[in-house]
Amino acid sequence: MKKQGNQNNIHSLLRLLPYARPYTVQFLGVFLLVVIFNATSVLQPYLVKVAIDSDISVPHPNLHGVFIIGGIYVGIVILGVFSNISQMLLLQYTGQRVIRQIRIELFSHIEHQGMDFFDHHAIGRLVTNISSDTETVSQFFTQFFLSMIRDGLSIVMIVIAMFELDVRIAWECMTVIPIIFGISLLFRNWLRNAYQATRTRLSNIVAFLAENLAGMRIIQIFHQEDQQADRFETLNSLHRKANVNEYGISVIFNRVLELLGNLAVAAVVFIGGGAVLHKVILFGTLYAFISYIQKFFQPINSITQQWNTLQSSMVAADRIGKVLMVESKIQEPVAPVLMQDPKGQIEFQDVEFSYHQGEPILKKVSFVIKPGQFVGVVGATGAGKSTIMSLLTRLYDPDSGTIMLDGVDIRQMSLTDLHQYIGMVQQDLQLFTGTISDNIRMFRSDISDETVFNAAKAVGIHPLIERMPDGYQTWLYAKGANISMGERQLLSFARMVALNPRVLILDEATASLDSQTEEMVQNGLSRLTESRTTLVIAHRLSTVRHADVILVMDHGQVVEYGSHDQLLRMRGVYAALYENAGVEVLA
Ligand SMILES: Nc1ncnc2c1ncn2[C@@H]1O[C@H](COP(=O)(O)OP(=O)(O)OP(=O)(O)O)[C@@H](O)[C@H]1O
Ligand SMILES: [Mg+2]
Repeated sequence: MKKQGNQNNIHSLLRLLPYARPYTVQFLGVFLLVVIFNATSVLQPYLVKVAIDSDISVPHPNLHGVFIIGGIYVGIVILGVFSNISQMLLLQYTGQRVIRQIRIELFSHIEHQGMDFFDHHAIGRLVTNISSDTETVSQFFTQFFLSMIRDGLSIVMIVIAMFELDVRIAWECMTVIPIIFGISLLFRNWLRNAYQATRTRLSNIVAFLAENLAGMRIIQIFHQEDQQADRFETLNSLHRKANVNEYGISVIFNRVLELLGNLAVAAVVFIGGGAVLHKVILFGTLYAFISYIQKFFQPINSITQQWNTLQSSMVAADRIGKVLMVESKIQEPVAPVLMQDPKGQIEFQDVEFSYHQGEPILKKVSFVIKPGQFVGVVGATGAGKSTIMSLLTRLYDPDSGTIMLDGVDIRQMSLTDLHQYIGMVQQDLQLFTGTISDNIRMFRSDISDETVFNAAKAVGIHPLIERMPDGYQTWLYAKGANISMGERQLLSFARMVALNPRVLILDEATASLDSQTEEMVQNGLSRLTESRTTLVIAHRLSTVRHADVILVMDHGQVVEYGSHDQLLRMRGVYAALYENAGVEVLA
């Protein structure tokens, strides 16, 4: 089981490789620079050996020769530093570009998901996905990639150099390799498990924070600060334990390797020292061997540390992959029907829908709304009113049945067209960080300031905005927490007016307004609603009393249909609602 999971992880990492393809030239450049750097590094002990054996440790030391070799040595060191710096900068530059691309695509992929996706994915998780998971994967393209070439190459070069110097001692040095492998294998599983535990616990913390910071008002009102702080502390303790554990394992692993390296140096001194005494090798060769065996452990250590990076990148890539693999249920048509000047006729034919399989929310809903009609939708809480609007705007697609706009199945229209023709002011209002005017034009540059002002005037919020400290440039914070609920609703209205859709949907859009303001908005809107189809969901029946048609919803079905007077005469569900609401209607 575990093995399988691991393979999937590697696949998810490989799936991200195509993002690196446009940068092949840069990666090749890094490779070349790494080769140069390694060559300079391997040459250094060799140069010292030559100086010792041919110019210093000889009967007639040759100072001139030492001078020349010293000069070459300095040149090589400078070349090494230069290639090292440029290789690191180039790699970082390239790695960050790859990651930027992955991040952008991830966000845009998520943006195009249907609403069902957001019902099933915690926002906190998605935030970690786009921010830190991509960052972790970037380490694969930088650290891991670099280490594999630089350290791999340097091991190969050192081995070659050692065999060049003395085959027997080189073979003896090679005996440490199986020992290193054995130890790495032993630590590998521990490290992987420890790593995964840390990541999961960290993302739990992020998810917790996202939820709590967003819901701070409720937490304070319910005096849950201490309880939530306790939960936060528990999450943090779990994370701390996992983190310390992971760090401990990796420290022990590194120190064990280091110990092994030092033992190997001692062994070389012992074996090589004997060889020097027996005049089998020269002293300079022994010096070179000691340097090489020390240099040998450094890349091995670094490669094994990359095991961590590989693990973390695989976990992160897996999580990114899982999101990228989700195909949006809302698909754009291949050949969209061109809509020219839509009239605004809406038709539902036997529409069935469920959020969860087996729990039908809409049952065979059928109705027709003629162009320009003002339609009220009423019914008990949970009857399915908002769901109808979500289907009409394709936030979800129906399980069966058809929804048509001017006789065209909305699934045959491009989403851009659809959202151009149908505008909705929702129950849960969304404002974004930005100015008031940004929020009214929804950051669209094609909507002029004049349109924004006119829209604000139409819904009567213009004087209110003028009175704010910076007028239309007043800054709104996330979700518009710094203005009142009613003001937020008016802004959402103004936004719709500015977008100027053919079909206007108002879902409980006036619920937070006082009766006077509501009337003002109604008057402002009546001019707008004259020429377009308007659907208004309202609990306050007074709001829809004058509608051309009222749809009465009950348990996912349209149970009554007609004008206010017709419905009253039916003495059915609507009449009952109306009588119950008598007090409110009078108010
Ligand atoms: N995203 C969702 N996931 C799962 N179930 C949902 C979701 N949204 C709504 N529901 C369920 O679907 C049913 C209909 O919800 P809907 O929002 O359409 O009701 P409504 O008529 O608009 O009610 P209200 O008057 O309270 O706004 C409810 O039982 C609700 O619990
Ligand atoms: Mg609703």
